[in-house]
Amino acid sequence: VKGRSPGKSTSRSSLPSRLLVQCAHAFMKEFPILDAGCGVGRNALALAHSGFNVVCADRDQHRLGKLIESARPNERCGKLLPVCANLGAATWPFGSGCFSAVVCVHYLDLAVLPAIHASLVPDGCLYIETVGGQGQNYLELPSAGQVRELLLPRFQLKFYEERPVGPLKYGRRAVKLLAEKPK
Ligand SMILES: C[S@@+](CC[C@H](N)C(=O)[O-])C[C@H]1O[C@@H](n2cnc3c(N)ncnc32)[C@H](O)[C@@H]1O
Repeated sequence: VKGRSPGKSTSRSSLPSRLLVQCAHAFMKEFPILDAGCGVGRNALALAHSGFNVVCADRDQHRLGKLIESARPNERCGKLLPVCANLGAATWPFGSGCFSAVVCVHYLDLAVLPAIHASLVPDGCLYIETVGGQGQNYLELPSAGQVRELLLPRFQLKFYEERPVGPLKYGRRAVKLLAEKPK
């Protein structure tokens, strides 16, 4: 894959998550990474540029099409493997032990955490970065401690950060985390 063409300006929203790029050093290359809710692929493209094979999953065919349009084969980069699917607990399309990491950036469905855990290889990583809570979107964010509580029985937390967002009475948190599935 190739990034954006030279000379084109890069908007802030098309840049990959900086923290994800840092955390990706901990990801293994033996198995692909799943970018869950990949959208038009700012993170998937960055991961592929770092040599990872990336399964790019989104329910929005149009966004997946844009991702593929912006990708160009390049022998140094990993492969992008688009999958159009609804990533629900009952519709999870992936088998067990097939990803070295699962990345959920600005896409979070807590009900799929058990399926994500099953699809990771032992020592595999889960990276989550929720939306930041701009406008009304704090309403889709978890409550204080909720994600930590759900992860702790199954994962080891390597990094966990919660930030209060929205009106205090709602108790919502923007979350960034890196977790590992123990052997
Ligand atoms: C805000 S965008 C984030 C895109 C990308 N992760 C990023 O950080 O730029 C959320 C994406 O998640 C996808 N999405 C939301 N719910 C989904 C579901 N149940 N199954 C698959 N994709 C979903 C949407 O179609 C959208 O492309």
